[in-house]
Amino acid sequence: MRRLFAKKTLHDLSRESDHHHFKRVLGPVSLTALGVGAVIGAGIFVLTGLAAKEFAGPSLILSFVLSGFACIFVALCYAEFASMVPLAGSAYTYAYAGLGEFFAWIIGWDLILEYSLASSLVAVGWSHYFLKLLGLFGIHIPPWLTSDYWTLSHQAKELFAQNVPYFNGIPIVFNLPAALIIVVITALLVLGIRESARFNNIIVTVKLLVILLVIFAGWFYVKGDNWGNSWDTFAPYGMAGIGTGAAYVFFAYIGFDAVSTTSQEAKNPQRDVPIGIIASLVLCTVLYIAVTAVLTGMVYYKDINIDAPLADAFMRFGLVKISFFISVGAVAGLTSVLLVLLMSQARIFWAIARDGLLSERIFAAIHPRFGTPYISTIIVGACVALTASCFPIEEIAKLVNIGTLLAFCLVCAAVIILRIKDPHHPRAFKCPFVPITPILGIISCGYMMIRLEFSTWLRLIVWLAIGSIIYFAYSRHHSKLAKKHTIKIK
Ligand code: ALA
Repeated sequence: MRRLFAKKTLHDLSRESDHHHFKRVLGPVSLTALGVGAVIGAGIFVLTGLAAKEFAGPSLILSFVLSGFACIFVALCYAEFASMVPLAGSAYTYAYAGLGEFFAWIIGWDLILEYSLASSLVAVGWSHYFLKLLGLFGIHIPPWLTSDYWTLSHQAKELFAQNVPYFNGIPIVFNLPAALIIVVITALLVLGIRESARFNNIIVTVKLLVILLVIFAGWFYVKGDNWGNSWDTFAPYGMAGIGTGAAYVFFAYIGFDAVSTTSQEAKNPQRDVPIGIIASLVLCTVLYIAVTAVLTGMVYYKDINIDAPLADAFMRFGLVKISFFISVGAVAGLTSVLLVLLMSQARIFWAIARDGLLSERIFAAIHPRFGTPYISTIIVGACVALTASCFPIEEIAKLVNIGTLLAFCLVCAAVIILRIKDPHHPRAFKCPFVPITPILGIISCGYMMIRLEFSTWLRLIVWLAIGSIIYFAYSRHHSKLAKKHTIKIK
């Protein structure tokens, strides 16, 4: 039992951070850009439509406020940890210090939902927007190369029967663009962080310009009536709808914590990582609220399009060019989200493998020339490409959210525990009003978890059960911390 809760000391972690193996090249602007790059994506470009239509109506604005506040509480906790433990593992590493090895492993396992599964979902969204752009240029790819088997066979039965090729009686259906974008990004990440960060900065600029275009151009087409004339018309699904909307659009905020996974590549992690996390989050919250206000003001919530809500809103007013730019922005935006999410996943595996809980030979191998965790990056890329091209990922957004919310709750708890256990360890950034801020983080994230359905909880439990089995079958026996403890006892 004691081994399950064995913790790393902050002193050990500080020492580990001195033996870094990555190149330190990221400054505060690049780190904020990485945060924005990870955050603004499928959540605002795609999921807003469904959330407004089915869960919250115009009051989705308040859902974004609620979700944004929860993330700010959590971000302050992340920032304290990132400044105290500038290591690559993010929530996993923090939990190792605050809650012990088993919880750390569970969070690491849980983060696969946040990073890899979310990447698959974003890749599918990317492919939809990319196909829209190709369509504008008169290029059409057959449906069996742009969808997964499940979606095509359910949503377009006749199309399926007529067009799908067979190999040895097996229908060939997969999402080629989704797989290709993952392959390209994986290659970039293997080549190195400097190139990747520069590429990211350009894309983030394009994405921000497009979001500002939506806000300022769309404002002229807003009709106050669409927001409703009373509380009942503004919030047609009531407070519960606002809560469910928040739990759903929470996806739009996922990724701000990715900045903390790059601590070992930051030039001055103690100062710059907290700046990166908080600046990117505040910026995105403001933009989301403005975009949602414009969208629900331009289009009556029941008429909002689900696949490409922002582009569609402008098409309704005959603004084809703006609609085109939005699609370009969405493709660019989703690309940078993929870049950061995939990079973070490989780094979390690296951190877990360094502790012996995963194979170090595979997941901690650093390329001698590029200085990147290349094997792990390639493995992650292959799995995500496979999932994105073959499975109906849209359904799984809620699983991504519940997994991430759980990790956030545990990070908040770990901040409180470490303040009690190790109050004097230097903290370059201190989360204000502890324990109130982390407790508010736990309450708001917990509330959003409760708003998600039972089936989502069930999937989470199954996922965590699989993780526990791996821990007891492999990780526990290879843990370096456990070995150290055993030697001490002997
Ligand atoms: N927040 C990211 C997105 O919305 C994951 O795509």
